[in-house]
Amino acid sequence: MMALDQTAKIWLTDTFADDVTFEEPMSRHTSFQVGGPAEALVRPKDKGDLVRLVQWATEHGIAYMPLGAGSNILVRENGIQGIVILLAGCLLSIAHNKAAATAPCITADAGVKLADVCSYALKHGLQGFNFALGIPGTLGGSIRVNAGTSGGCMGDVVESVTLLMPQGSFRSLNKTDLAFSYRKLDWPIDTTFETGCEPIILEAVLCLQQADQHSIRNEAGRILKQRNKHQPWAASSAGCVFKNPLEGRSAGQLIDMAGLKGKRIGDAEVSTKHANFIINKGRATANDMLALIDLIQSIVYERFHIQLETEVRIVG
Ligand code: EPU
Repeated sequence: MMALDQTAKIWLTDTFADDVTFEEPMSRHTSFQVGGPAEALVRPKDKGDLVRLVQWATEHGIAYMPLGAGSNILVRENGIQGIVILLAGCLLSIAHNKAAATAPCITADAGVKLADVCSYALKHGLQGFNFALGIPGTLGGSIRVNAGTSGGCMGDVVESVTLLMPQGSFRSLNKTDLAFSYRKLDWPIDTTFETGCEPIILEAVLCLQQADQHSIRNEAGRILKQRNKHQPWAASSAGCVFKNPLEGRSAGQLIDMAGLKGKRIGDAEVSTKHANFIINKGRATANDMLALIDLIQSIVYERFHIQLETEVRIVG
């Protein structure tokens, strides 16, 4: 895999002008607000820009990584080699089919925030997406990690996705091709390209049900109230840091029982409200976050013989 040389930087600058920045701190683009620089960060204006970029990067053996809202990712201090493609803020269209004879489906672009999908569904009386209320990511990112809550997950509603392949072509996959499991999506696609880069989710069709707007609104109110009561969503965090073990107690319960609420390394702190959240109290670094994650894993293992796995993606 190649790092960016001068020729690559010139092409990026000529092609994307103000929409490319070099040595861009990832702390500006992640909800943890930590992380070293991306060699280059590009904000494509539209699908055309995105296709051109991915095709060029693959032809030149340059790695790229799509990024949505940066809400489930921890970037190490040494940053990211290659190009980060920021999809939040572009690819924003959303619509639904209004034909009464067919099941109501929303078609939305990858860059649409889940909160906006929730509002859209609410406005049009479409039920089945309230589970995502309060999840801070974009549609593309949340499908990639099968984000969810106890009320449901992306795999429950995704009907199909359109992918941009590393060579620049498009491919559609139906739900029968997509293997969703707990916070995981496997797709039946060979991703052994030279750069090791994956396809990028461009858009998705979500299947919902028509319902009474009033009841959806009431349900939404209840869910948000619960969320705010139990989770520190206003703080700088990446949501739950660890996956729940497949059976038995949840990660939050185990960390809590290990007495780790409020435990701090530098400015990284285990939330006092929900123990599976780590909060950046101000000036935390990626190393503080990683050290706290290690500490939690070793103390929980010592106490309960359970190895907690991170749900947050660690990159760099
Ligand atoms: N609990 C504690 N102490 C804590 C936190 C939780 O004792 O500090 C207990 C709770 O009282 C409850 C149990 O642990 O009895 C489970 O907690 P909760 O209902 O908060 O759910 P969770 O399993 O910790 C999951 C998702 C969340 C999602 C919530 C609510 C995972 C890893 N987490 O949390 O998703 O919001 O359910 O639906 O699956 C995320 O993925 O980023 C995320 C926050």
